[in-house]
Amino acid sequence: MRVSDMCGIIGYVGFRQAATTILKALKNLEYRGYDSVGIAVEEKGRIRIVKDKGRIADFEKTAGLEGISGTVGIGHTRWATHGVPNQVNAHPHSDCHGKTVIIHNGIIENFESLKEQLAKAGHRFKSDTDTEVIAHLIESQKEDDFESAFVAAARKIEGTYSIVAIRQGDGRIICSRKSSPLIIGIGKKEMFCASDMPAVLDYTNEFVILKDGEYAVLDATGHRICELQGGRQVKRRSMRIDWTRQMAQKDGFAHFMIKEIHQQQSAIRLATTSGEYGRAARLLDGAKMLRVVACGSSYHAGLVFKNVLERLTDRHVEVSYASEFMHLPNVGKGTVVIAISQSGETADTMAAVRLAKERGAKVLAVCNVVGSSLTREADLTLYLNAGPEIAVVATKSFTSQLALLYKLVFIVSKRQDLEQGIADLSSAIDAVLTKAGDMEKLAEKLCKSTDFFFIGRGLSHATALEGALKLKEITYLHAESYPAGELKHGPLSLLEGGVKVVAIAPGDETRTKIMGNIKECQARNAEVIVFSDDKDAARLGTEFALLPKVDPIFSPILFSIPLQLLAYYISVKKGCDPDKPRNLAKSVTVE
Ligand code: F6R
Repeated sequence: MRVSDMCGIIGYVGFRQAATTILKALKNLEYRGYDSVGIAVEEKGRIRIVKDKGRIADFEKTAGLEGISGTVGIGHTRWATHGVPNQVNAHPHSDCHGKTVIIHNGIIENFESLKEQLAKAGHRFKSDTDTEVIAHLIESQKEDDFESAFVAAARKIEGTYSIVAIRQGDGRIICSRKSSPLIIGIGKKEMFCASDMPAVLDYTNEFVILKDGEYAVLDATGHRICELQGGRQVKRRSMRIDWTRQMAQKDGFAHFMIKEIHQQQSAIRLATTSGEYGRAARLLDGAKMLRVVACGSSYHAGLVFKNVLERLTDRHVEVSYASEFMHLPNVGKGTVVIAISQSGETADTMAAVRLAKERGAKVLAVCNVVGSSLTREADLTLYLNAGPEIAVVATKSFTSQLALLYKLVFIVSKRQDLEQGIADLSSAIDAVLTKAGDMEKLAEKLCKSTDFFFIGRGLSHATALEGALKLKEITYLHAESYPAGELKHGPLSLLEGGVKVVAIAPGDETRTKIMGNIKECQARNAEVIVFSDDKDAARLGTEFALLPKVDPIFSPILFSIPLQLLAYYISVKKGCDPDKPRNLAKSVTVE
């Protein structure tokens, strides 16, 4: 059986008690993975591993970490993508003698052949993981020195990974990465490595990003980065990130998701107040062909971008799911690929970007995470500046992607007169957030329903797609979305009493037609919940949300917010955890 993971990883070396320091950092990374957790710390000359399946909060109660001394260690939260989450498969993993201990994120593609060779040479494996192979591979190297053995082993590994290792008696951490995030946090007389910056913001704001094909050696006094092939030392300046731990905490909200929903006004402002918009617009101007690649909510933002750009200019844009791009990579010199990704680490998006670049295309990234893989490989990046988004599902990153893309379109189309409309959304958003209680009441009425259809036309189809995605992700209810006019070509056969239809019906050019579609659904006894800024359209619904009037071109931003709130409150009422939906992770670093 093959086991590979999407995970949160931490390494610590310094003066603090490593076990509890690592646990605290892991809590900040739990959104990356949460079906098992483990820690390894060097204590009194031997490495002690404590790991279990389940959540960090349960692990903390039973693991007895306070009693573990030692100031160098590693920790891991796992989200299994193959194979069962259990104690044996949880990280860290060790070699035959418990001397080299490692944690890992990603997939080792040649692990089967490596495992076979190592087993023939007498290595004994305890788990099904590809990760354990790395520990044995390091053990099997003829080099005695930890660093040399690590490097020799890492050169034999194929696949995508970030690896963090410690060795008994060595006192250092050695880590490496290939297509999987790994940052180094620089403290005073202490060093960290982690899959994401928020993990260690309690301790430092100073970071160095490790690049693909590099490894780093950390001890309490500092770090050294080298190329894995060739071994040349790399000098890289550190950067200060002005995120605070508070920005990555709940600030009195019950969940990160609701906190992030409430941050959308400022996120939209920050996305549109700075950035290399002029350069980005010139890049698009010079392109023969424009393509968008993205996944999930970011893909929906791409659909809005296409609609608005094609309305305001004579340009055409092709929008693809990043995972589908390889099957139709119609790009070459002269193409500009706009890659939209909150995390900048989504494997499907990265694969599409690499393919596009191989074929001579230029890449404009729209991204939130500074220093992420996407921003390093793109020709130019427009940053969302939305701050950390901790809830697994996209909320503020989605609306700030929209705001950023609107602004870009307005520059390209020389319609800067429309830009003020983005800023003007603030009071409308405020009105929606102030009336969040209405969505909570609506959630109470809808939380026992099992089937939802989200419909919209034109721009509102993208909004409907996003609303359905949000609902299914965090409530586990069946929700799908169609362009409203498409219902009669098939899905209408599913409508009957008990089915809920959520209609996105702004008072724009789609108004009359969507009103017809609402009646069409009601004629099949479906209950229609109408989201509209038009009184007549709204009142067609059995339930409705009357939203403030804004320029209809911006309806995807405004209308998405009550849909986020609705999904959130249904999730809470159903007893789900909206921040940590089952089977999903924040950075999807496997294809
Ligand atoms: C939706 C959601 C996912 C992401 C998708 C892309 O709520 O969170 O669908 O939008 O995985 O992630 P990024 O934008 O990081 O590439």
